[in-house]
Amino acid sequence: MQTDKGMSADVVELRAALLGWYGENARDLPWRRTRDAYVVWVSEVMLQQTRVAAVVEYFGRFMREFPTLEALAEAEEERVLAQWSGLGYYRRARMMHKAARMIVAEFGGRMPETAAELRALPGVGEYTAAAVASISHGEAVPVVDGNVERVLLRLCGPQLAEAGGNGKPAVGALRTAAQRFLDSQRPGEFNQAMMELGATVCLPRNPQCGECPVRTHCSTQGEHETGPAKQMRSRQVAYVLMQRNWGPKTEVLLRRRGEDESQMPGMWELPAAPEGGLPDESVVLTVRHAITNTNYYVTIYELPWEEKRTLKAPRGSLQWVKLRELGEVPLTGLTRKVLKRTKILPGTAKGALA
Ligand code: ADE
Repeated sequence: MQTDKGMSADVVELRAALLGWYGENARDLPWRRTRDAYVVWVSEVMLQQTRVAAVVEYFGRFMREFPTLEALAEAEEERVLAQWSGLGYYRRARMMHKAARMIVAEFGGRMPETAAELRALPGVGEYTAAAVASISHGEAVPVVDGNVERVLLRLCGPQLAEAGGNGKPAVGALRTAAQRFLDSQRPGEFNQAMMELGATVCLPRNPQCGECPVRTHCSTQGEHETGPAKQMRSRQVAYVLMQRNWGPKTEVLLRRRGEDESQMPGMWELPAAPEGGLPDESVVLTVRHAITNTNYYVTIYELPWEEKRTLKAPRGSLQWVKLRELGEVPLTGLTRKVLKRTKILPGTAKGALA
């Protein structure tokens, strides 16, 4: 059946069911209390590749430190990275900072409003542009993130899943499907409802179909077929923990990664252990740390500070940092985890092997 606007009654019903469910079930997340584009932008950048629970903690701190776009633009990059430390994918933070500076320098501090204009900013891809434009400005552009892709694939079934040939969905076909479902009257809420459904009900494994507001529209009603799971690589790495001056003056030795390093340039980490290893008695901690598709099996050796001269590191890259200043330093996620586990930094970190 077609309505006046040529849209099938089925889609109209799906939108109403999904939006009704979202109205009742949306999680109360801090960035949902406003439509301010700067706030939405920060939250969406943080939410890429990062769990909501982790983002909630970082988001509050980041907003207190940089409450406005101008505040972010004025900050030194190192301060921005320090606030991002532990969230990973630091390029996101660098790019957002660069974009904030560009908005101030070139647009008088006014954030662009349309998805097309937003895309011209450094680091802003299709996903972020669509999220900000739809949530903050009501532009009818669909958001397709990993969660939405799964919802669409299950709703539409094999027809969409195989649209790209070789058993894979085509990006264009996913976007077309997302655009067809999108409620152009309430695009921001609709996009968020699709993401929320994927995050809380239409889960990758054991989807909660009994609770799904759109199950009667769903071709799959359960898990869909996916390709083989991502292969993780394993790497062994070893670092050294050195402290000196006990009590309030305690300092820890850190190394600043070079600006030319391909991963995490300019971030601070524990110095690498000398090649050939160190005696087992010096091991204080072993941890597993996953970054994208690599599991790092990490050994941390504790050594007296006098052993600093045995460490190999580029000239000038090693520095003693006071414990009370660690919060202002952009630490790598692994270093933050080790310093928390060893109680040098307050807080807990999960996932220890020993
Ligand atoms: N994941 C990323 N952005 C989101 C949003 N705005 N709502 C729900 N889940 C999300």
